[in-house]
Amino acid sequence: MQLVLDYLKNNQPRFLAELCEYLRFASVSAQPQHKKDLVACAEWLVAHCQGIGLDARLCATSGHPIVIAKTKREAESSKPHYMVYGHYDVQPPEPLELWTTPPFEPRIAGRNLFARGSTDNKGQNFAHLKAVEAYLKTGTPLPCDLTFVLEGEEEVGSKSLSGFLKQNRRELNCDAVVISDTGMPSPEHPALTYALRGIIAFEITVHGPARDLHSGIFGGAVENPAMALAQLLAKVRDNQGFIQIPGFYEDVEAMSRLERKEGQRYPMKDAQLKKLLGVPQLFGEHGFTPTEQRSARPTFEINGLTSGYQGEGSKTIVPAWARAKITCRIVPNQNPAHIRKIVCDYLKEICPPTVRLEISAGHGAEAYHVSPTGAPAQAALRALAKAFGTKPILIREGGSIPIVNEFKKILGADSLLIGLGLPDDNAHSPNEKFNLDNFENGQRMSAYLWQELAQ
Ligand code: BES
Ligand code: MN
Repeated sequence: MQLVLDYLKNNQPRFLAELCEYLRFASVSAQPQHKKDLVACAEWLVAHCQGIGLDARLCATSGHPIVIAKTKREAESSKPHYMVYGHYDVQPPEPLELWTTPPFEPRIAGRNLFARGSTDNKGQNFAHLKAVEAYLKTGTPLPCDLTFVLEGEEEVGSKSLSGFLKQNRRELNCDAVVISDTGMPSPEHPALTYALRGIIAFEITVHGPARDLHSGIFGGAVENPAMALAQLLAKVRDNQGFIQIPGFYEDVEAMSRLERKEGQRYPMKDAQLKKLLGVPQLFGEHGFTPTEQRSARPTFEINGLTSGYQGEGSKTIVPAWARAKITCRIVPNQNPAHIRKIVCDYLKEICPPTVRLEISAGHGAEAYHVSPTGAPAQAALRALAKAFGTKPILIREGGSIPIVNEFKKILGADSLLIGLGLPDDNAHSPNEKFNLDNFENGQRMSAYLWQELAQ
């Protein structure tokens, strides 16, 4: 093990340069113009994995490619088999003008590496690759077989991967999935995440007149679709954060008293959170703490809102349509299809007859919840403690990794969520970064993890 740790220690500058190469691919899965960048990034990964000593291949899908990289197997291996899952696709970098330096030109400042995808998720999955490299290049035997599954559609709902899991069930069958694609509350608090929220995505379009109209000639006699949409949305939630859709909270699993007490150990003060996020005041349902609100409570969020003229100056029109991009975060025991239905029913019911409502469904996934007391979770906690030199905590998080449910359903495997992201890493925001101490500690965590899991 010492050889592995020394190898990691001695190769940080090269690892950093390689991570920068990885970050230079503009692998934005949501934008069709970047399709080639995703392929190039996947090909780079395959070559990189082969260089480390893994058996790697690119698997084409109807969407973006999947990269599979495996440690070489002994015939009839009886070692435990773990999957390491990560994603090489990234969120759109816009708005570009808010980046200090361009999103796909990595920049190092102090112990931070700035680039789109640095924390979410390239830096985190690269830490695992470097740990395996250390084993393979020092000739240290790995106590388990490993298969890396790196996909290019996580940020758009992992459509191809779930079919791929079904087709390759035998090859991918494993004891557990290890994922570093979540967060930790602070550099002093490494964490194991035992619950994630699920999600449903959809778009609402309110159609008004057949074309944009002169608002002086016709305004007043036709409903304004932007106003109608605003009023619809305003009826979805009250001003304390409670969602007004009948039945929305019906299946929400209440947190146990013990869990709520544990949650109070989460080391982020309300004042700190307020400052970090730049809001004049925090917000939310009475009776729940901000930590609970952003991890264990369901939400209805407007992600984008568009209508009418957006250019400079004014334009006097009644727009023909208005559109909102929406996601609801859902929690354990809420059924995505059912929530989608009651949301649609409610919107249709309250929509006035003066406009036409169109709702188009996007991706959806259940929440995830796994026992933090099992042996794999305990092994992960020990690995975190050794790598970070401090006691890790158990947390619930509010983000979603839809594919974890498929790992459970298709492969029967639980996921160990060992996040390396920090609250100020700006995931999905301008100036995304990754903390280089977390990069290095993450590599060591991964190195220890395989030993701890094998015990
Ligand atoms: N890494 C995140 C998920 C995450 C972040 C979980 C922080 C817990 C804490 C992942 O890349 C992500 O952004 N997922 C999307 C899923 C969606 C596009 C289906 C999300 O949560 O918005
Ligand atoms: Mn993400």
